[in-house]
Formats: sequence, C-alpha cells, structure tokens
Amino acid sequence: MKHKWLVALFVLFLLPLPVFSLSEAEAFSLLGDASVYADGELLMWRVPMGLDGREMLFSVGDLPAAHSVEVEGRGKEGISLTWENESEISYYTVFSIEDGQQVYLGKVDEPHFIDTSAPGEGERVYYVASHLQDGMFFQSSAASEGARGTRLPAVEELSISIVGEKTILEWRAQEGVDGYIIYRDEEEIDRTKSQSLRMDDSGEGEYMYKVRPYYMDDKREIIGESAYVTVIPEVREASLITRVVNKKHPMDPIDYYPEDLVSVGTQGEYLREEAADAFNKMNEAATRDGCPLTAQSGFRSYDLQTILYDRYVANYGKEEADTFSARPGYSEHQTGLVMDIVGGGARIGSAGGFDQTEQFRWLQQYAHLYGWILRYPKGSEEVTGYSYESWHWRYIGVDEAIRFKESGLATLEEFYSIEGGDYPQ
Ligand code: DAL
Ligand code: ZN
Repeated sequence: MKHKWLVALFVLFLLPLPVFSLSEAEAFSLLGDASVYADGELLMWRVPMGLDGREMLFSVGDLPAAHSVEVEGRGKEGISLTWENESEISYYTVFSIEDGQQVYLGKVDEPHFIDTSAPGEGERVYYVASHLQDGMFFQSSAASEGARGTRLPAVEELSISIVGEKTILEWRAQEGVDGYIIYRDEEEIDRTKSQSLRMDDSGEGEYMYKVRPYYMDDKREIIGESAYVTVIPEVREASLITRVVNKKHPMDPIDYYPEDLVSVGTQGEYLREEAADAFNKMNEAATRDGCPLTAQSGFRSYDLQTILYDRYVANYGKEEADTFSARPGYSEHQTGLVMDIVGGGARIGSAGGFDQTEQFRWLQQYAHLYGWILRYPKGSEEVTGYSYESWHWRYIGVDEAIRFKESGLATLEEFYSIEGGDYPQ
C-alpha cells in the first residue's frame, strides 16, 4: 500500500458547488455514495452532489489505510470488525461490496464496527477507509484489503469421541446463537443450547456428523455454516466397554488410545473414566471390608506393551513369553478397562500368591457387582490363550458382569461366542 500523504481536494473547477457549507453529516452522507475503483482499492471518491447529480471528486493520497481487518460472525449480534491503523485518524468508513456495488455501512471514530445489517446467510466482503478531517479538508485513504465475514460461521474445534456406548460431539461455543442443530448423515437428529452433545449412538456404520449454529430472527430461523466430523466403525468398536481383545482379536486400530483416561490409585495408573469410577467404588467397599486393593497396572499403550513384551521375550524366549504376556496391540490392558490388582502382601505373577489373599476372595465374591470379572481363570488357558492370572481383572459394566456371573461361564470368549486360543498361524 502506498503511503504518500494526500490531500483530498475538492476539484472545485469541476464543481462550483457550495461544498464548504456542508455539515459533516451531510458531507459524510455524500461520501457514503462514493465509489471504489480498481479491485477494492479506493483510488478516488466520486460523489454525486446535489439534486442535479453533478459529481465532486476527492483524490486519494497516502493516508495509511486500515489494515489487519478481523471479522467475527456473532449471530444475532451481527458481524464484528476490528482493524488497525498507524496514524491519527478522525474517523473510518466501512463498506461492503455487494453484486459489484459498494454499499456504505457506517462511520466510526474507533477501529471497530458492528454490522447489524448483514444478511443471516451468505458472506459479506468488508473494506475500511481511513479519513482525516481538518476543517473543510478531507483526507481519505485507499480502502483496506477486503475481509470476508459471515454472520453465523461454522463452529470451531468440532471433535468427536466415543466413550462406551456414547458418542460425544464437542465444539467451541459461539456468540449470538440460540443453539446448534446436529445432523447425522444430513438428517437432523437433535438440537442443543450447550456446546456438546452426548448421543446414545452405538451404530455399526460410518457416520458423518454435522453441526450448524442457528438463531431466531423475527420468527425466521437463520441457520449457519456447517462443520463436519466423521466416525468410523473401527474406532467406535474399539472403544466398546464390552470389546473382547485376545490373540485372535487385536486392538483395531492396532495403536488405539482411549480418549477418556483418568488417573486411578496412587501409583500413576490410568483407566478409562467409567472403569476408574467403578474401580474406586469397588476399592472403597473392599477397604471397608478390610481388603484394600492396590491398583498395580491399568492402561498400557501400544508402545509400553512393546517394551514389556520385548523384555519378556529376551528373558524367557518367545514361546514362553506368549503364555503370559500379550504382543503389542493384543493386550487387553490397551483398552483402558483392565487393572492388575494386588494387595494383602501379594505380588503379581504365578508365584506372587495373590489368590491366597483375602483380597482375592473378596473380589471373587463381589467384583461383578462393580462391573469387574476375572479374565484369565484357572483351567481356561486354551480358551483365553493365557496362563492363569488371579490379579488381572476386566471391567465390562455392572449389568454385563452380573449377567456373566449368572451365566456360570468362565471366559468372555464363551460368554460372547468369540474365538480365542492362540495367535493365528
Ligand atoms: N498379561 C496379559 C495377558 C497382558 O500382557 O496383557
Ligand atoms: Zn494384566
């Protein structure tokens, strides 16, 4: 942008009109009809004057133009503009261009403006010109670069997470809206005033969700731009509370990482939120009964399991390691729904003696009431693919755990009719 200081001179020899007697408001209203030339850059004000329609020209010099125009859609409240300028300015004028025509929007002394006349739908392109007024002389800058704005822009930071059987959409709240409309595969499924929605949506398919802000304007509904997010069945399935993971059924995606891990116990262990709550409730009850539980190993990432498994293979050889340690991507610990539990002076491992403790007996009797089951029982090695682990407990939800217990079946593989055993050859 050029920066020669200018003079807006009335080209008096063209226009022998009594311009000096115009009040500022009148002069200004004339400026409002000025034209923009050359691709949005204001080169010359061309102002129709008076009833006879003769024109007055203001040349435009190097008054620095407004720049860094920021536009923010605020729904009902309109569209907010802010900008910067490098020198003393008497006032600014704000224009938009519509159908190739310059539309005068207003005049402000400070570098911000709210456009309440913006249409509910569509986009406006804004230009800001700077003006210095010194007595009867006006200096006017070229227009700023055009800045696009829409009254109801798409929501930002739209994200999706799957927690158990719930699908949760979240986004950044917007100003000036009455709420948001949620669509699944183009069909409206809900409306909410808050900035998130929990859906009982455990469908099998790949879904596309769409969120659009809206507000009511004189009984007419104005619906804003769309933000999209998609969920694929693998992610939904991987995060099911009842998901069975074994040597035939790895995590999918293989490096699945739960979204809702929370800290549990005092040893820096993590579980998914629902399982963590259930563990804490169970531990409170067990502690009341004199059997405090220690949360020894909860969520393990793909990378952590890689380290553990490789170490076991190095120490015991692959064949032996496979009987008690899962390969990365195959560990149930990666679901965030498993806790290795000890207590009563016992340790993890076949020689650790956990199944001789009061804690183990307590768990056998009550754990299902909190949603937990023993995952690798004695005598089921061929089904689970692993040797007996008295310390490895799995959360599947209270209703499911009670159903499981009542079924009399020993393993999740049998309960859900899912193939287990060794790795596929
Ligand atoms: N110890 C169990 C099988 C695991 O490594 O996940
Ligand atoms: Zn374990």
